[in-house]
Parts: sequence; C-alpha cells; structure tokens
Amino acid sequence: MNLLDQAKQAVQGMAQAVMTKAVALAPDSWVPGGQPDPLMHSKHGLIGAPVSRLDGPLKVTGKAAFAAEFPLPDMVYAALAYSTIAKGRIRSLDIARAEKAPGVVLVMTHHNAPRLQPPPLFLSEEKAAAGDNLPVMQDDRIHWNGQPIALILAGTQEQADHAASLIRATYIEEDAQISIAAARAEGTTQSQFMGQPLHNESGDAEAALAEAPFKVDATYTTPRHNHNPIELHAVTLFWQGGVLRVHDAQQLVTHSAFTLSRVFDIPEEKVIITSPYVGGGFGSKSLWQHHILAAAAARMAGRPVRLMLSREGVYRIVGGRSPTEQRVALGATADGKLTALIHSGLTVKTPHNAMPEPFILPTRSAYAADNILLDVRHVELDMLGNTFMRAPGEAVGTFALESAMDELAEKLGMDPIELRLRNEPEKDPTSGLPFSARHIAQAWRTGAERFGWHRRKPVPGTVREGEWLVGMGCATATYPYYRMPGGAARLTLTSDGHVTVDVAVHEMGMGTATVQSQVTAERLGLSIDMIRFNYGDSTLPGLIMAGGSQQTAATGASILAAYDALKKELVALAGNSSPLAGLKPDEVGSRDAGLCKLDEPDRYDSYAAILGRARREEVRVEASPPPPLETMHWSMHSHGAMFCEARVNIVTGEPRISRFLGSFDCGRILNPKTAASQFRGGIIMGLGLALMEETQFDERKGRIMNANLADYHVPVHLDVPEIDVIWTDIPDPHTPMGARGVGEIGITGTGAAVANAIYNATGKRIRDLPITLDKLL
Ligand code: MOS
Repeated sequence: MNLLDQAKQAVQGMAQAVMTKAVALAPDSWVPGGQPDPLMHSKHGLIGAPVSRLDGPLKVTGKAAFAAEFPLPDMVYAALAYSTIAKGRIRSLDIARAEKAPGVVLVMTHHNAPRLQPPPLFLSEEKAAAGDNLPVMQDDRIHWNGQPIALILAGTQEQADHAASLIRATYIEEDAQISIAAARAEGTTQSQFMGQPLHNESGDAEAALAEAPFKVDATYTTPRHNHNPIELHAVTLFWQGGVLRVHDAQQLVTHSAFTLSRVFDIPEEKVIITSPYVGGGFGSKSLWQHHILAAAAARMAGRPVRLMLSREGVYRIVGGRSPTEQRVALGATADGKLTALIHSGLTVKTPHNAMPEPFILPTRSAYAADNILLDVRHVELDMLGNTFMRAPGEAVGTFALESAMDELAEKLGMDPIELRLRNEPEKDPTSGLPFSARHIAQAWRTGAERFGWHRRKPVPGTVREGEWLVGMGCATATYPYYRMPGGAARLTLTSDGHVTVDVAVHEMGMGTATVQSQVTAERLGLSIDMIRFNYGDSTLPGLIMAGGSQQTAATGASILAAYDALKKELVALAGNSSPLAGLKPDEVGSRDAGLCKLDEPDRYDSYAAILGRARREEVRVEASPPPPLETMHWSMHSHGAMFCEARVNIVTGEPRISRFLGSFDCGRILNPKTAASQFRGGIIMGLGLALMEETQFDERKGRIMNANLADYHVPVHLDVPEIDVIWTDIPDPHTPMGARGVGEIGITGTGAAVANAIYNATGKRIRDLPITLDKLL
C-alpha cells in the first residue's frame, strides 16, 4: 500500500470511529432524535399506488431528449480511435489522411491535447466519479488495449467515423500483465471495498469443515461482463464564457460535474451537467474518458461537440464486471445446521481503479454459522478499469453461495428451502448487529406456494416432456440498504398551492420522478398534479447518486428533511389568528393542502391561507437529512426468494427458462408498477448472467474480442419467460417511508436459481457461468 492509500485508510478509520461514537448516542430510529417515518404506515394515499410513469407519454412520443439528442448551433461530431496494444508507447501516429478527410475540423492526439489533471477516482473522495484515474492523451503511454489515441471532430458523424478509420499508429510494446494465471503466480493482494478489507473471520472454519459430517467444497467461476445499456454513453457539450455545459447520460450529475472541474482545473460551479433522461445505467453511467476528451476537444475547436460512443466504444472505454473464481465450502450437521461457512477466492482489478468484484458481500449476512471465513483477493491486470455493475458482489457472489447451498441440501437429502430456513440467523452473523427487518421466511413460504414448489421432484433428471428435461430450482436474493451522506432537497410552496421539488437525482428509467412526486404529494397533503419535480441537474441541491439501490431512500430522506423545515417556516408564518397558533412544528402534519394538529385534525389551516395572511407569494426551504446512522445501528438488507423452472433439450443441450418467480421482502413498496419493473428487469439481467453474458478477453493481447451485441449475448424477448413478482410489503421501521432498495436485488440469486433448476432437470451441476449448451451436452 502506498502512502496516499495509507492516509486515506487512516481518514476512513477516523470517520468510522466518530460515527461509532455518534451511534451510541442515537436513539432507536432512522432519524436520530426522531420517530419512524409516519409515511411508512399511510394506507389510503398515493404511497403504494400503481401510478404510471409521468415521463411515459414523453418517451413513447419521442419527446424525451437523451444526451445525444440536443442539436446545438455550429455543433461538430466526434469519433475516437483506440489503441490495439495493452501496454507500451506510441511510436508513431499518422494523422495526415484523417486531417485531409472530408469535413474534418480537428484531430486531437497526445501531441496537441490541452494539459489536463487526472480525474479523481470514484470513492476516493466525496464527490469523485471517475471510472479510472488516468490522465488521457497527455503523453505517449498506453495503459490498456482500447485506450483512446485520437479524437476526430467533423461536420457529420459519418465523416468523423471515416476519418477515425484513417488513423495509423505504431507502438513500442511492453510486457503487459494480462493473463490471470501469470499474474497469480506472482502473488495476489487482499482486496478492499469502500475502504474496508474484504475479509471476515470468526471461529475456525477450516477445522470445522474438516470435522463436519456433511460437506460441500467446490469452485465456482464467473466470466468478465460488459455493460450494455440500450442508450449508448454520450455527451453533447459546449463551453460558454468559461463554463462547461454538458448534456449527459448520468447516474451522478453532481459528482461528475465536480470531477470534470478537477480535470480542467476550474471552479466546481463552472461545470454544469444536466441529464433529464437516461436509457439505462446499471453502474456504468459515471465519468469516463469520453467526457474528458469531448470537453477538451470542444475547447480546442471552440464549438459544441457531440460524442456518442459506438457500441464497440462502450466496450473499449467503459468498464464492466471483473471475473471471479470463488470457493464455497460448507460443513453441516445431519439436521442441516451449518457449522462451517467458507467463501473465498480471486478476482481482478487494474492499477488505475478500485473495483475488485466484492463477491463475499452477500455471504456476510446470509446464514448462521459458528465458523465463518470470507475473503477476496485479486491480481492486477493491464486492462480497462472495471466498475460497478448491477449488484456488484451480490450478483455473482450469490451464484456461488446459493449453488453450494443447493449441493449441500442434496447431500443432506433435505429440501433446499428447508435448509435455508434452518440457518436463518437471529442477528447479523458477521457484524453482530440486529436486522432492521428481515421477513425472508415469509418470502420463501409465499413464493413456494405460488410457484408450486411442492411439485418439484427431488431426484434430478426425472421429469421429461417430449425432448425436454424439466426442473425447478431456488435461491436466496439479497442486496444491502444504503443511504449515502450528502442528501439535500429544496421545496418551494407557492400561494397557488403548487410545490416544486429541486433535487439533483436521476431518472434512468426506474420512475424516480414519479415515485418522489408521490412521496412529496402524500407528505404535503397535495394531489400529485400539484407537484413539480426537478432533477437531473448538477446545480440543484443534493449529492445523491443513482447507485447502490439507494436513490429512493436518499431522496425521500432529503424531502422529509425539507418538509420539516417547511413546517417550521409555515407554523411561524401562520400567526396568532391561525387555528395552529401556539403549536410546535412537530405537533402538526399535513392534509388537504394545509397543516393540521396531528391529534386534532380539525385544527387546520390551508397553505393558501397561511401564505395569504403573511402576504407571501412563496415559501422556499432547503435542508439535509441526518447522516446515515441507521446503517450502523442495524444490519439492513433487501431480501428475496427466487424460483426458476428450466428446460434442457436432450438432443441439443439448449437450456430454456420456462417460468420464474421472485418473492421479495424489500420493506414498503412505494409504487407496485415501477417496483415490479425493477424486479423483473433485474431478473432478466440475471437470466443473461446465468445463460449468456460473457466478455471474450484475449489473454495474449488484452483485447475484448466480442465488443458488439452480435457476439456478446443478452436476453431478448424470446429468451424471457413469464416472470412473476410478489412482495411482503412489510415496512422497515428504520428507513425513510419504510422502503428499502429494489433496483439491484432482482439480478441476485437468479444465476443460482437457474443453475439449480438446470441441475434438477438434468443432474448436471454447472459451476461455470454462463451455462451454455456445450456444457450441458
Ligand atoms: Mo449500481 S451497480 O449501484 O448502478
């Protein structure tokens, strides 16, 4: 570890100590000093109503403008040329033909690019957003195969693409570390995630395993994955009087604006990012090199620039998921009690990022076992920096853990659901914290009943329909509750009874604006059409990323904080003639476009009357919620029980999924329509993880060989069966609105549910993803 890393760790350690002290003083509520959010119990209002997406009509009529759909006067189009070696130096770069090509305005290379600062790496500081921390086009060095070596600006996209194809480079190659086996032979490193070592140990797991009467000890492998959101990564940007304005596709507008300001060494407020609509993100829509290069080129050319990556471009410069090799070893007594739980193994990162795939995360809170050993190590390879990809850790970690649980159940001759229920922990097995709410047993029971689990034949390979072997499998889904610090929101109440919410959050297609409008309307006692929700703009309040399935909680907490500030202001404004006179802000709540005494609703004053008497056109407040102390009081997770029916063709080996059910326990469901889409979307991505997705990485050249959707397979409609989703809808008393995250949990557990169903169908245990037909023949 270098000095800088040591210093960072020390700072994180101190922050941890301060938080721990504060936690000891905080009462038993998500808001220290406060009560559970009353909205978690509201039964008849907008919370829990299947409100259709407010942006739906704009999307289906083509009126929602995405990042590459802002036409600007005098705009030029950008294309990138990419390196074809993994490591070394550029010996020569021939740009003469490109410069003479029709329509070309600028060819930018390391020879003429402006001097830039390296982008701060995501999580290295509060507002950092970069996927890697490399300065680009600042010298002749190549760090990965696919690194941009030239950017062309031209009058049309076709002209730019053509000119990019005319660039010729020669290289002085250096030995690159691109083979996992070769790197491993030189030694592995203990991995960290968000400043903490990926290592947990209690008791003596190896000794307990050795003594266990029943055991499983197997290795599970998952390949590299790349991001494929439908909307390609794109920016349309321009410089205006020293201000960089960016139309972007973003999951973290405020972080990314800060990061760009560092790269160009300008004040933070001189970068403004807007991102009203995003066509999928899944962890990939942070800050990558195309932002930096497009902004640099726009400054050089003095013209607006549109840079939309090609699909190949997304594979070349936007990171994906690291490969993993995971050992899961389970020891159990004859009645299915786990005595040893080992989950360890190897993944990959680069020297320029901080994202080893943290596959042990789901195992930390999964099962009661006296002896636990969890560990992730990694090797560093010269390749594109990897990144967050839907449920980083849990998506592939649950494949290994939950496949192993299925294997153990068979050895014990026990139903796999029963095995899981017998190992339900009383409290978090690694942190020792109580669970904030955990109703996974109920999710299992209701799911099993609805799916018809009792019809499953425990002996594999015994159900056949024509050419197809049929099987059922199940697995646990899990994803943590997070609420990151930095939230804030602004509320403006006007005398005509409208409320405007300003908060820098994101709409990637999950229904953010819709659900938060529901939350605001119900909190303020207004109808939803009185709410205007402004988001997707780095100049708005709040540092809230659409990541970690935490945007809903972080935004809802910010709106609640602003609401409390608004009540305070209104009670003060109400005056002595108000029915509210003499009341304290926490004695009042909202109903019917006004405030009332909580236990005496007839003592009511409308917002319009309060503002009218005070001769105010509007009241405006901005506030931040308390720090996320709840996550230090409790072990907080969304839970789920996944059920899969798979068919495998006895002639071709082709696997097909015929039915799927996700039974979820994610706290209060705020909008069943948008939540169901999140669950289904996650499960569909999980089917891709189980059966199709695999980045082909050439270990001789370090190049991604299938950088397109013809060769990198994701599920299409014909691959997706009927997917049923249900939920417990039991509020979590320790979260805003009683809700926990729903965005990522769907991809977790799905890989194992599929693998376990395929085993039940065929008797073939596939421990290596994706499960393709060649492995089943
Ligand atoms: Mo997610 S991988 O936190 O967008």
